[in-house]
Amino acid sequence: MPAQLPTVALIGAGSSGIAVAKALHERGVPFDCFEKSDRVGGNWVFGNSNAMSSAYRSLHINTSRKRMEYTDFPMPADYPDFPHHSQIAAYFASYVEHFGFRDRIRFETGVDHVERGEDGVYTLRTDTGETLRYDAVLVANGHHWDMRWPEPAFPGSDTTRIEQIHAHQYKDESQLDGRRVVVLGMGNSAMDIAVDASYHATETYLAARRGAWIIPKYMGSKPVDRGDQIFANPRIPFRIKQAALMLALRQQVGKMEDYGLPKPDHKFGEAHPTISGRILDRLAHGAITPKPNIAHLHEHEVEFADGTRVPADLVVYCTGYKISFPFFDEDFIAAPDNHIELFRRVFHPDHSDVAFCGLLQPLGAIMPLAEAQGQWLAAYLRGEYHLPARPEMLADIRADQEAMRKRYVSSKRHTVQVDFDEYLYALGKERKAGGERARLAGFALPVPARARAEQPTTA
Ligand SMILES: Cc1cc2nc3c(=O)[nH]c(=O)nc-3n(C[C@H](O)[C@H](O)[C@H](O)COP(=O)(O)OP(=O)(O)OC[C@H]3O[C@@H](n4cnc5c(N)ncnc54)[C@H](O)[C@@H]3O)c2cc1C
Ligand SMILES: NC(=O)c1ccc[n+]([C@@H]2O[C@H](COP(=O)([O-])OP(=O)(O)OC[C@H]3O[C@@H](n4cnc5c(N)ncnc54)[C@H](OP(=O)(O)O)[C@@H]3O)[C@@H](O)[C@H]2O)c1
Repeated sequence: MPAQLPTVALIGAGSSGIAVAKALHERGVPFDCFEKSDRVGGNWVFGNSNAMSSAYRSLHINTSRKRMEYTDFPMPADYPDFPHHSQIAAYFASYVEHFGFRDRIRFETGVDHVERGEDGVYTLRTDTGETLRYDAVLVANGHHWDMRWPEPAFPGSDTTRIEQIHAHQYKDESQLDGRRVVVLGMGNSAMDIAVDASYHATETYLAARRGAWIIPKYMGSKPVDRGDQIFANPRIPFRIKQAALMLALRQQVGKMEDYGLPKPDHKFGEAHPTISGRILDRLAHGAITPKPNIAHLHEHEVEFADGTRVPADLVVYCTGYKISFPFFDEDFIAAPDNHIELFRRVFHPDHSDVAFCGLLQPLGAIMPLAEAQGQWLAAYLRGEYHLPARPEMLADIRADQEAMRKRYVSSKRHTVQVDFDEYLYALGKERKAGGERARLAGFALPVPARARAEQPTTA
């Protein structure tokens, strides 16, 4: 094994960053992890000092704990199937303590700028005024914090007297108390916030431009995403799984139209899953009134696409998030309209020394996938895995993008979708192939160690 490994800057210590940090720590890859916040856990830290968390007081996970936990660190046995955000944040903090790499994280240190020099070494500038140099940059800065407002803005949104916020700015029920609230969207934020509103607002309207299949958290008596069912088998073709789930949904939930919701214009699995154990109940109780898309915001009223109007005090736009890398120059790496082409959602085909972690939206939870990506990255940086040649990577990316385009409803929310079990299965195969490539190349380091001599690292 090579004596000197490349030095790594890892950006972010959310659930993805800590999974990478653990792998690098265990495999002896020298790294510094930069974290804006005073603690780990990212999105799951309610009221996070980084001001980037989109968590609200009532938030519970919607992927079950067994799907979400890291493979070698189970969640505490007394956790429920769908724990509260406070339990999830505590779990991530205990993961870092348990594996003993907290001292490798530089807290309250945001990365402001990263630039590749002519010598191939990256210069990184922090918001604490430091300038540091690294051989490789791993990005785990999260993709659910940069608000995507309706595009274009609704007519009247600049003159209305109705308050307008994004789901990211929704923190607790006090924002809804005694008000007439319109929630826009059919994703998971819209479901949770509409349910909160249904208990605290005087009127709750759920507006949508498209229907969604709402999946309950349980099917039978077990979490819907449990690993021992047909959907979790990567060898069964998607269309068969889709038909089986559609049948189960028809039996257990029925038609969305029967709850007053728009009929989905797609089948299950062709949009990011909307999971809610409570919204259908609140619709059935008449506590939430479904509406089509917003058409116009008047001074004190919201007008919908069907011409109906309701008085309103607050509109909550649950319209999703942008993928952003504010520390890269746009002509280096960017994700316009959430598009970024990466080999298996990790490696940039043009930059062998920049990689991403957790930049995916699984049908299933992100954490075990980030864990597998972390192990993959550690193997890569140690020369134990080699990437395919660039044309092969590009062909793989193109095939993947084409499959996503064919399967998913066209939307900026569907640019980094993966199926949990299929992704892990394919990654296992790719790691084997890349291990063989590395062996044939004599385990040469794909990223040379150049920066180390110039600065102390914590390895
Ligand atoms: C409301 C909500 C509920 C969700 N529920 C689920 C769920 O049930 N299951 C699931 O799998 N996923 C869920 N998600 C998706 C969510 O993205 C993941 O749960 C998880 O937070 C991803 O972790 P991450 O580490 O990639 O990103 P984040 O949790 O966003 O962490 C990113 C970290 O990077 C740090 N950072 C960012 N930029 C910089 C910088 N420039 N310098 C230094 N540090 C930086 C941040 O401070 C933060 O700590 C949910 C998302 C939202 C918005
Ligand atoms: N409890 C939980 O665990 C939980 C809670 C909240 C969020 N999350 C996760 O957080 C992530 C983000 O979820 P999200 O719900 O905030 O965003 P999202 O999944 O991106 O959903 C955005 C919704 O807004 C709609 N929309 C976007 N632009 C619109 C416009 N201009 N006009 C009308 N509708 C518009 C989209 O419709 P189209 O489909 O037509 O684009 C979609 O219904 C997801 O991964 C989600 O699973 C999880």
